[in-house]
Amino acid sequence: MRIVLGVSGGVSAFKAVEVCRRLVDAGHRVTPVLTDAARRFVGVATFSALASDPVPSGLWEPLEGGIAHTRLGQAADAVVVAPATADLLARYAAGLADDLLTATLLATSAPVVVCPAMHTEMWEHPAVAENVATLRSRGVHVVPPESGRLAGGDEGTGRMAEPETIVAAVLAVLGSGPAPAGTHDAPSGAARTGDLSGREVVVSAGGTREAIDPVRVITNRSSGKQGHAIAEAAAARGARVTLVTASGLPAPAGVHTVRVESAAEMAAAMASAASDADVVVMAAAVADWRPKVSALQKVHGVPELVLEPTPDILAGLAASRRPGQVLVGFAAETEDVIERAKRKLEQKGVDLLVVNDVSAPGAGFEHDTNEVTILGADGTSTLVPLGSKRQVADSVLDAVVARLRPGTLDRGSGPGTPGAEERAGQARRGESR
Ligand code: CTP
Repeated sequence: MRIVLGVSGGVSAFKAVEVCRRLVDAGHRVTPVLTDAARRFVGVATFSALASDPVPSGLWEPLEGGIAHTRLGQAADAVVVAPATADLLARYAAGLADDLLTATLLATSAPVVVCPAMHTEMWEHPAVAENVATLRSRGVHVVPPESGRLAGGDEGTGRMAEPETIVAAVLAVLGSGPAPAGTHDAPSGAARTGDLSGREVVVSAGGTREAIDPVRVITNRSSGKQGHAIAEAAAARGARVTLVTASGLPAPAGVHTVRVESAAEMAAAMASAASDADVVVMAAAVADWRPKVSALQKVHGVPELVLEPTPDILAGLAASRRPGQVLVGFAAETEDVIERAKRKLEQKGVDLLVVNDVSAPGAGFEHDTNEVTILGADGTSTLVPLGSKRQVADSVLDAVVARLRPGTLDRGSGPGTPGAEERAGQARRGESR
């Protein structure tokens, strides 16, 4: 197969040499395309020695069988960009074609795999998150960066995935291997790719922390893994995702991540993010109570804690929800699980309630796996057997997708039922359903 290996200018460009070697060893014809910035990090001679094709010099070089800026993209069976810098992702998302690599990306209809690499602050910047989300919604496969040492001695999320992970993702895209763990939007999920395209999804995650004083907090055992997995899965299915998280887990690829600590901060962030959302998933374990007064200085001795309930964020979201919005709650229970959950489904006014028996082995807090029952306000009950939190996330999103009405600007009074406002709008526009 013909593979174009795009390399943009980051310190991990040296790892692209290994990606090139492995792809050639796997029997593929590899043409490296280096940006000007990449040439500052790694020598063209290195790629020329390893790759099957010479490294084209740029947009203006005549190529056998056509002109470079379209020929390479047209002939490719896959294009992989490793590393993909914030700048390259922005230019690709914007449709610029000001060098050979971006021109090739625009001229190809082959699958594209991008492997972002940058500093954590850049990776978490909303502009980068939006660009990654845009590319994902167009079907671009993203091999998310990993956590580790970054340029300049910094540590954090943003280090390009290892060459073996990247090569496995490319081979999976080409249909000659299974998708590697962690590259979730490689083709194993292809059936679902894009079914949330154009949708706004807001997810909360993690256990909130309610301050007793500047040193101590009241919190719970939630890790935030299930909420983060839902955000990641929604992004992989094409949604524009905002994750409001009280967890310290890294921001998922292509997800606009808002970090909060307390229930009050989460309530404010969710209210603002949810107003335009098509889907809201309240996966966070909000602390049920908080100290009535949080001491400004460290408390010495044993304090007499007076607690008060935190705001019920989900109830607030249900009360002010936008017509047509699908609202999902979670319930963590340890006894009479389904009976309690059925009552909660009704009380909270949600469309779906994802019920966790947190006492079951391998399920609930802190685990990498989960087992849930998804209750629908329409009377459905779906058992999702023990699996990875990512698998559970996709099952929850399957139930969400089944309840979304066509179009992104729903104006009904609730899922599935056109309401007065919508009917008035339809009448004004002379439409019918
Ligand atoms: N929730 C919320 N705000 C709160 C408490 C809970 O938004 N102050 C949300 C959770 O994110 C979850 C759902 O409500 O989606 C159910 O949470 P859970 O803790 O199971 O139920 P509670 O409402 O707290 O009721 P109880 O503790 O009595 O079971």
